[in-house]
Amino acid sequence: MTGELMHTPVLLESVLTLLDPKPGEVMLDGTANGGGHTLALRGRVGSGGRVIAIERDSEVMEKFAERIKKEKMANVTVVAGNYADSWGILERCGIRRVDGILLDLGFSSWHVDEAGRGFSFQKNEPLDMRYDRQGGGETAADIINNRRQDELERMIRDYGEERFARGIAQAIVAARKHIRIMTTGMLVAAIRQGVPRRFQQGKIHPATRTFQALRIAVNDELGCLDRFLSEVSDLLAPGGRLAIISFHSLEDRLVKNFFKQKAWEGIFEIITRKPLTAECGEVRRNRRARSAKLRGGRFIRPTA
Ligand SMILES: C[S@@+](CC[C@H](N)C(=O)[O-])C[C@H]1O[C@@H](n2cnc3c(N)ncnc32)[C@H](O)[C@@H]1O
Repeated sequence: MTGELMHTPVLLESVLTLLDPKPGEVMLDGTANGGGHTLALRGRVGSGGRVIAIERDSEVMEKFAERIKKEKMANVTVVAGNYADSWGILERCGIRRVDGILLDLGFSSWHVDEAGRGFSFQKNEPLDMRYDRQGGGETAADIINNRRQDELERMIRDYGEERFARGIAQAIVAARKHIRIMTTGMLVAAIRQGVPRRFQQGKIHPATRTFQALRIAVNDELGCLDRFLSEVSDLLAPGGRLAIISFHSLEDRLVKNFFKQKAWEGIFEIITRKPLTAECGEVRRNRRARSAKLRGGRFIRPTA
């Protein structure tokens, strides 16, 4: 695996305030990466507490687990898996319910800078985009080269909220008639053909939304979040806190609606009326923080 897991945790102080981990408590970090948040949670629960850290990318997970082992952090358990399967993972760890859960969604700086899997349109890399390569599944190249034009258009519109979805899907299909689209560079060139020229020089790169859509589709990101939210009431102890950091409006909408619905049912108490965002200083130090939105709630009543 290339490179260290360099990723600056976003909204760290707000996460700690919201999750309020106390000595002896058990916390679940569903998206551990290199453990920026995990280790801060560990610091708060102390040696009498425990943190379960789930990570879907086995390359990342192995690197983090190695560090945990080397530094003899006995109260951190690193697990390769999907946070959507948290219930089974906790059961295998011998835990029934936890006192706090964090999800810090999406990809990490390592994925963009080092993974070489085509997460960024600014680098020319193979079109893969899977977090979990060992689990098999379709790559971004499979989707781009095999899906029908109307399927591509729907994916780009629904997951990328891209207004030129039709033109981009048409351009992709036209390009792949000549040669399979196997790299980010080839995909960016096709996308440019599908976006009117006067929109090519805007603030947002013309490939931004299509790349987001592809990443969401390859990793079923919204499906995972939906599955997790449908079972989170079975994971938290009464009084347990849930914090979720999202990076685009589709995820944030799911989280916002979940808290609204559960508050109405009297199952969760909303802690953040409005999502918490990063201060200018944090955004200056860490560009990734600019689009982060943190929402949180407290689990107050188990479902019948
Ligand atoms: C934004 S990073 C987390 C960074 C971490 N909080 C930190 O500060 O170091 C998101 C991580 O979640 C992982 N991931 C994405 N989807 C996942 C899923 N469904 N289950 C578990 N991990 C997932 C990604 O591989 C990535 O490493």
